[in-house]
Amino acid sequence: MSSKDENEPTESSRKLLKFVEKGFAPASNYEKVRQDYPLEAVKFFVENLRLLDDNTPESKVLELGAGTGKFTRAMLEVLKDQNVRVIASDPVDQMCEKFKRLEPDIDIINCVAEKISLPDESVDVVIAAQSFHWFANPSSLREIHRVLSTDGRFGMIWALPEFSLPWLAEIWAFLDPLYKQQSVVLPFNEMWKNVFDTSPRKLFTNLNENLSYRLDLPSSFEDCYEFFASFSFIINSSESIKESFRELFDEIKRKYFINKGTGLDHIPFKIYMYWCTKEASG
Ligand SMILES: C[S@@+](CC[C@H](N)C(=O)[O-])C[C@H]1O[C@@H](n2cnc3c(N)ncnc32)[C@H](O)[C@@H]1O
Repeated sequence: MSSKDENEPTESSRKLLKFVEKGFAPASNYEKVRQDYPLEAVKFFVENLRLLDDNTPESKVLELGAGTGKFTRAMLEVLKDQNVRVIASDPVDQMCEKFKRLEPDIDIINCVAEKISLPDESVDVVIAAQSFHWFANPSSLREIHRVLSTDGRFGMIWALPEFSLPWLAEIWAFLDPLYKQQSVVLPFNEMWKNVFDTSPRKLFTNLNENLSYRLDLPSSFEDCYEFFASFSFIINSSESIKESFRELFDEIKRKYFINKGTGLDHIPFKIYMYWCTKEASG
């Protein structure tokens, strides 16, 4: 069990949580404008988390940062014939309320990854979908390790725009400093992996990864703007930064599409998946 002091919230974690609470309060808009997950990728992911193994008795899955349940729904669809119980969690009230309305049969607990309200060794798998960057810290890893049973698996998945494409790279160049201000890194910046090496003893096996799945989200220019405007880093920004983002977006639309006589019909995404197994305690 993690000691109380080690997991007590610090000034900076309190600040980050305030940022998260504001950034994810518009839960209905999040549900409307964000992408879903491609089922083939989710199937590959849960297979590697050993949830498609017909011979195991009931498996318990905890999803951290479940939000409105976009990943949860994809996972439930893929696991519909399996003996799996899913428990969701999120620290933002509006997200938990929206989740309950959309998935009334799934329990959702209101907690941060750094303090999970579940007993030791009570789940077989922990999943963080599009969320580990918010809690890539030693406290959350200790908690994930604590709630996992022996041999438990931890999986992280992200669906992120292909920021290497020139028009998306310009959007990322705008967003990147805002992420850095909060010390939040996305998986294409491999720094997030360092957290797995900060503990004095190894909590998890080395990470496995798969980056081969893609997704195209059908999108008009306005849908695309709404998608990025829903990022918590834009929601938390000043009015002048929001205006600059709108101007940048309109400039990108002219430069990469209208001036070339083409339109936008989708946003391309790359799926990032990582998984590991709990190392024995002590
Ligand atoms: C980008 S959303 C992802 C939601 C959902 N998993 C999905 O795939 O659409 C990130 C979620 O992480 C949650 N989150 C942020 N900080 C967290 C923390 N410290 N512990 C647990 N969840 C956190 C937010 O409240 C938000 O719902």
